[in-house]
Amino acid sequence: MKKTTVLLCAAASLTLASMTASAMAQSAAEPSGSGGAGFAGAGDADGAFITPGKFSEPTGEKMYKRVCAGCHMSDAKGAQGAGMYPALAGDPNLASGDYAVYVVLKGLHGMPAVGRMMSDQQVADVVNYVRTNFGNKYKDRVTAAQVKDVR
Ligand code: HEC
Repeated sequence: MKKTTVLLCAAASLTLASMTASAMAQSAAEPSGSGGAGFAGAGDADGAFITPGKFSEPTGEKMYKRVCAGCHMSDAKGAQGAGMYPALAGDPNLASGDYAVYVVLKGLHGMPAVGRMMSDQQVADVVNYVRTNFGNKYKDRVTAAQVKDVR
């Protein structure tokens, strides 16, 4: 009797696992289409999310490359095309750490509120990274507590 229950449970979780696996395989296969250089941000098969909707990147630099560079470019010089992605390189608006935190947490026009999927520390790290790289030399560091207040 007990054995049957255990077996049934095992079967059920196997089904779930294979459903998840095939869903993942499907979404991983989608972007390839025409064989061109597709957008690299597709899919989270490389473990970008620990839990759905949360980024797992451990440093500001990795977070920038993973999340921000898709729009602001890896050299932070921005881009113009279907939309206008402002340069964060040498950006005088970054003089205010609070402003940068606010934009990351709340979004701004065409920029989504990506900070909602980050911890306070991750937001602080990525903002500090941007404010001390790409020709930006702002010495004051944003703290997780500051991020919490803005959130
Ligand atoms: C989906 C595209 C996209 C992503 C991803 C994105 N941004 Fe943006 N970002 C924008 C756009 C578009 C604007 C300009 C919004 C406006 O002013 O209309 C912007 C504006 C900003 C600004 C304000 C710049 C200024 O001079 O006022 C900051 C700061 C910023 N982004 C930081 C970041 C950081 C840090 C990340 C990663 C954590 C990030 N962005 C991810 C699209 C994006």
